Formats: sequence, structure tokens, C-alpha cells
Amino acid sequence: MSVRERYDALVDAGSIERDGAQLLAVDRLDHLASILPDVMVASKSGALGWLFNKSSSAPPPRGLYIYGDVGRGKTMLMDLFYSALAVPRKRRVHFHAFMADVHERIHSVRQAVKRGDSQAEDPISPVARALADEARVLCFDEFSVTDIADAMVLGRLFERLFGHGVVVVATSNVPPSELYKDGLQRQNVMPFIALLNQRMNVIELAARTDFRLEKLQERPSYYVPLDARTAREMDEVWARLSSGIELPRRLAVSGRELSAPRTALGSARFTFSDICEKPLGPSDYLAVARTFHTLVIDGIPRMNFEHRNPAKRFITLIDAIYDHGTKLIASAEAEPFQLFYGEVGNEAFEFRRTASRLIEMRSTSYLSRPHETRGGAFVPIET
Ligand SMILES: Nc1ncnc2c1ncn2[C@@H]1O[C@H](COP(=O)(O)OP(=O)(O)O)[C@@H](O)[C@H]1O
Ligand SMILES: [Mg+2]
Repeated sequence: MSVRERYDALVDAGSIERDGAQLLAVDRLDHLASILPDVMVASKSGALGWLFNKSSSAPPPRGLYIYGDVGRGKTMLMDLFYSALAVPRKRRVHFHAFMADVHERIHSVRQAVKRGDSQAEDPISPVARALADEARVLCFDEFSVTDIADAMVLGRLFERLFGHGVVVVATSNVPPSELYKDGLQRQNVMPFIALLNQRMNVIELAARTDFRLEKLQERPSYYVPLDARTAREMDEVWARLSSGIELPRRLAVSGRELSAPRTALGSARFTFSDICEKPLGPSDYLAVARTFHTLVIDGIPRMNFEHRNPAKRFITLIDAIYDHGTKLIASAEAEPFQLFYGEVGNEAFEFRRTASRLIEMRSTSYLSRPHETRGGAFVPIET
């Protein structure tokens, strides 16, 4: 199915509305998805690249850089493109996670050189070669340059990736010319920006509205009590948020994996028992908060001192997501201030902060807050 067919199917299913600006982007993505399989066959050798590969005459097509405000459907369109793309070696990754991976690989090359296992060379070259070998098409969600360490390697890295014929599709909140706008030593990033403009077509996705905010505001975000009607409403909210595109995901958290069985478009849905009654800790909650802009939690029970472990985890989770502006949709046995009963223990006291945050998180001003992913994202070990 083409990107357009997938988009139309979502419209027909009533999951999304038809949007003119999105359709223009869909066309561009479709064009790319239709030509890439042949191009990629023509230039099979990722290691040599089209520059050196005499059998492929034409350079690879330009990628696509889609920028626009939040909630315009950038991630959704990129996911549709990615699933429509019939190229086996493709990779879709959050840009922060990609850069974390790049720095790790550079580090291992340096270590190998130090040990004498490998010849001294610019570590970026072998890293770019390996990346290009693994994926001929790279899809980056939330392309941004926030870090001087990234700024220092991006130009050389992308020059080599493009040299190997890698095609890049990216979403971002800003056009290339505004990347790393007030960053330190910005002049070092200018050649990289020029390179992006040269190797990618840049389009703005000016969709009608912030669909995410609209969806969050059209219904309540906190459902009480836990009955069949609430369950139905939670399913409806999830169906609206996920637009019917649901995937399991695994997040890498300090050397372990945290599984998020139900995710879609940057949202994740967990049951209270999966997220608060399992042995998870602050680093897991931090990863969840950074990775997902919206969290859906089913079945928050009333708790007292007997349930202090899940209660403690719940407090930590809410603090983490509150700090990151992650939106919460929840079903619970009771209203926030009635969730914790009994006066015993530190939790009773701390829970008051949690309850007040739960209430604030329903407000329009909280729902309009941007999602903070600073400090890196933990996104995917891809599935
Ligand atoms: N045309 C549309 N009609 C209705 N909802 C949409 C449409 N496009 C996107 N959405 C919804 O808006 C939300 C935000 O989309 P997303 O792709 O995450 O935006 P962005 O990446 O631009 O911030 C998602 O829940 C998505 O399902
Ligand atoms: Mg997005």
C-alpha cells in the first residue's frame, strides 16, 4: 500500500480528517517511497557508495525534511512512509537516540584504536560506513541539534552518510536554517545546514491545527470510577490518539529493556499494574517521560500504607512526567485527593503533591505545554 492509500484508509476509518497540507506532504513521501526501491537496488553496495560505484550512474534522490509546529502530523506521516517503504535496509529512529548510538560507536572505534586492534583513522568514517551498510534509508523523528558534542560530528558524519548514498527523511520543529539557532560555536554547524539543504528537499507541514492538543481537549483526561463505561471511554481516547497505528516498543534503560507493549505516535498506554506494580525505578520513569509525549494509564486504584510500594512508584512516575510536560490520560478509582487514604507514612504527605499535580495536568495550560525531551531520549531499540 502506498503512503496515500494508507492515509486515505485512516481518513475512511474516521481516525483522522483529510488535511490539504498533509496531502501535499503525502505526495512527496509517496514519490520518494516509489522511487527508492529501484535506486537502492541499483546502488547495492552501501560500503562503496554511489560516488565510487560505476554501475550506478545517477546520484541518489534527495531526501525529505519536513518541519512544522507540534501536533501537525509529522510523526504520523513519517510512520506511514516508513511502513510503506519497500526497502529492506531502513531504519526509523528518534534523532536523539541515533546520536547517542553514534557517540557510542565513535567511542568504541577510539577504544579499538587505543588497544591497537584497529588502525588510527578518523573514527567518524568507519562509523558512517557501518551505519550506511545497515540502513540505506534513515528516518529521523524530531531532528534537532541541541548539543555541542553533536554539533561537532554532524557535518562530517552526514557528509559521509550522503556520500555512501544514504537517503534521509526527517521531521523537525524548525527548518534547517534554524537548527542550533543560539548554540555555542554555531558557525561549526553552518556547513552541515548547507549540506542538509543540498541533499534534502525541505517542506513545511502547515496542517490546519495542533491535532494533538485538539484531541486532548475534546475529552476529559481523567476518568472515575473504574467501570465499564470508563473502560470504553479510555479505549475511545486511545483509538483517537493512536489513529489506529499501534506498535509494541522496547526502550533501552541503563543497560536493560523496558517494554512498552502499546505505543503509537509518541503516546504509550500502560495498565497501572504494569507501570507501578512491577520493579521499575526512577530511570525507567525518566525514560518513559522523555520518550512519550502522552501517557495513558488504566486502572489507578485507591492506595494506602499497605500499597506504599506502588504508591511510591506512582509518585515518582507523576513527578517525572510532570517535569517533562508529558500529558496524562488516566482512569482511576477515585479523584486525585481521594486516591491515597490514611495518614500514615511519608507517602501520605508526598501524595498531596502528586494529587495536586494530577489536577494541574488536566488544565489547558498544562495540555498546551511543550514536551521536554532534553537530556536525550531513550527511544528505541527498534522493533
Ligand atoms: N489529519 C489529522 N486528523 C486528525 N488527527 C490527526 C491528523 N493528523 C495527525 N493527527 C493526530 O494528531 C496527533 C499528533 O500527530 P503527530 O504525528 O504526533 O504530530 P507531530 O509529530 O507533528 O507533533 C496524533 O494523535 C495524530 O493521530
Ligand atoms: Mg512528532
